[in-house]
Amino acid sequence: MRRYLMGLSLAVAAVAVAACQGGGKEAAPAVAASDLRNGVKFVEAEWKPHTEADIPNDSLGASIRRGLYLMRFTPESLPAYATSSLRCTSCHQQDGLKASSAPLTGAHARFPKYMPRTGAVIGLADRVNYCFTRSLAGNAIPTDSREMGDILAYIAFISKDVPVGAKIAGTDGIISMKDTLDGDATRGEAIFKRECVICHQADGQGNAAFPALWGPKSYSIGASMARAERAASFIWHNMPQSKPGSLTPQEAFDVAAFINSHPRPDSPGKEQDWPMGGAPDDVPYATKGHEAFRPPATLVPRRNPKGAVVPKPAPIGASRKAGE
Ligand code: HEC
Ligand code: HEC
Repeated sequence: MRRYLMGLSLAVAAVAVAACQGGGKEAAPAVAASDLRNGVKFVEAEWKPHTEADIPNDSLGASIRRGLYLMRFTPESLPAYATSSLRCTSCHQQDGLKASSAPLTGAHARFPKYMPRTGAVIGLADRVNYCFTRSLAGNAIPTDSREMGDILAYIAFISKDVPVGAKIAGTDGIISMKDTLDGDATRGEAIFKRECVICHQADGQGNAAFPALWGPKSYSIGASMARAERAASFIWHNMPQSKPGSLTPQEAFDVAAFINSHPRPDSPGKEQDWPMGGAPDDVPYATKGHEAFRPPATLVPRRNPKGAVVPKPAPIGASRKAGE
């Protein structure tokens, strides 16, 4: 048995080496001991996520493909749950593969994990529902539904071969800005008019092709995008869609401040975020030991406040009620 296992890992290592050699002549990057498991090394620079073209033509492939399409066409596919103008790929661009827009590659290997915002260890399905309820300002989908299974199948597919616990690009979501600058909403308005209205429209509400930046059809106040630095980084790296990287970091902070000064959907239960304290400085609502950072003047109430909350994991026997 032991012999067989050793042979197997050697064979896998040989395949890995062959793959490296195909990639060019540069010296292989140093491999940390923690990246070595059973003789197989994971070298991020040589890893490429699967894409749509690689989806197999079998039953699992059908689920993966449905998951991808649910992420691309979220409001069209799940109108009762995705009620805003956003789709998963509005932020997780290029089908979740784009490194600068909170990539989902490797996410399958990052969960379960402790989320300080929740104050609990959560699984990937709950994490997906945080995006349904907060980023899409919609309702949580049943975790035992086929649709949830399909979305998880797609995320697992684009995470294939990333070892559990590996830190790859995107592990921490949106890339952190080097400096946290003070955004000015007045200056941001001028940038918005110059650079963004052509797609997101003068009233910020977008249209069939472009997602809303504020108002009832945009992301909720409980989304990471509602935080000044997260939004500035997303914008700086990815917008304007036609010429990303053309704004200065200061302009990105200014236009983010302008966008996030507008009304957007509420996120019921948000006061209970970061139950141990330690909310980041730019969270726009009050939590334990934290004062709201530049909150919008008003919030749009949610039609189905219960559906907008992902219940915390509870021990067997205790009910898992929304809002507790
Ligand atoms: C408004 C933008 C936005 C939308 C829309 C959105 N997300 Fe997210 N999502 C984020 C951000 C931002 C993060 C990372 C958090 C951070 O950077 O602080 C994230 C994180 C995640 C994660 C965790 C990734 C990890 O490895 O930690 C998953 C899974 C996820 N999103 C799935 C989805 C799915 C599925 C949808 C559609 C139902 C969706 N998201 C819609 C912005 C969005
Ligand atoms: C050429 C069209 C275009 C321009 C110009 C543009 N965007 Fe976008 N924006 C998009 C598209 C399209 C998406 C959705 C991503 C996708 O589908 O790939 C998006 C998504 C976004 C999102 C995340 C989703 C949401 O609705 O909140 C933000 C925030 C954003 N843009 C901000 C900006 C800002 C700020 C500017 C101006 C500096 C800007 N965009 C200019 C096309 C554009």
